[in-house]
Amino acid sequence: MTTDLRPSGPFRLGDRVQLTGPKGRLHTVTLRENGELHTHHGVLRHTEIIGKPDGSVVTNSGGHEYLALRPLLRDFVMSMPRGAAIVYPKDAAQIVASADIFPGATVVEAGVGSGALALWLLRAIGPAGRLHSFERREEFADVARANVETFLGHEPENWTVVVGDLVEELPGQVAPASVDRVVLDMLAPWECIDAVADVLTPGGVVICYVATATQLSRVAEYVRGTGLFAEPEANETMVRGWHVEGLAVRPDHRMVAHTGFLVTARRLAPGAMPPDVRKRALKKPSYADDDVEIWTPGAVGDREITDKNLRKRVREAQRAVSGARIAAGDTADAVTSDEADATGDVD
Ligand SMILES: C[S@@+](CC[C@H](N)C(=O)[O-])C[C@H]1O[C@@H](n2cnc3c(N)ncnc32)[C@H](O)[C@@H]1O
Repeated sequence: MTTDLRPSGPFRLGDRVQLTGPKGRLHTVTLRENGELHTHHGVLRHTEIIGKPDGSVVTNSGGHEYLALRPLLRDFVMSMPRGAAIVYPKDAAQIVASADIFPGATVVEAGVGSGALALWLLRAIGPAGRLHSFERREEFADVARANVETFLGHEPENWTVVVGDLVEELPGQVAPASVDRVVLDMLAPWECIDAVADVLTPGGVVICYVATATQLSRVAEYVRGTGLFAEPEANETMVRGWHVEGLAVRPDHRMVAHTGFLVTARRLAPGAMPPDVRKRALKKPSYADDDVEIWTPGAVGDREITDKNLRKRVREAQRAVSGARIAAGDTADAVTSDEADATGDVD
């Protein structure tokens, strides 16, 4: 089985490098033979970086210094090309903990979007686990595949991406009651709960990541109404950075105040229905079928990517993956030196 690329040692051609320059400005480059980072502070040749250890300081033609580091997974997901909005690292960490994603687990994820969460899930399940990702839109799946390969250096053998709707595709991909964990990150997760209940193993976990309180309410009520799950739990995660300098030790002035909510529930054994679940499942549902129509991307404040922008992201993701292929020694896929890394070669 292919093991994950663990980038260490001196910088090599094809490596992605995060450069912190004057005034803390960040640039991400993919190292190329004749590559150059042009900014108004001067030119930094990639050859200045190649061969140096991770964490080195390099100098550009104007005498300005840059700290060169390989991006951590959390840095990579924040700077990689996006088709759809990503799960932020703080939420991915919480998903791994709340859904109890463990090494060797069989996990289903939908939609794969830009592949950010897929990278965290692959890391958590390890080579003995299996991740089945589903995505309705082919271009998003392309971006996700390229991002995962760029970061890991290969497309993992234990990962499949199926293009199509989860509800339609899931029964053909996994056996009933065979999946340990399901993660839903989509507009209308309640549409998938019945299909998810069929494939989850008794005691298995479903976790839904939703952007608005109205979606949170709808999915929690739906899960409850099936009578197939223990009582759902809901929460959100806020991470507040701190400024720590001398006596000035205080919270940062700015923070990402909202990303999404998590709703988690555990699958009951067939026929099992604890008294509180029975009572709640029998209650009149709070949402009628007609209400589903009101959950549109616009209604929940989703800004959808335009086709033109999406094509651009696909191209960016494919350029980045060609760098990863060079690093992995696959020179057949080498890119020409004038193909600048669209994520930040030019200031
Ligand atoms: C917010 S994005 C997912 C982002 C992803 N988790 C990440 O971290 O990069 C939501 C995705 O779900 C997909 N989607 C929505 N409903 C779906 C369904 N029923 N089956 C499969 N994919 C679906 C959308 O096309 C979209 O790409």
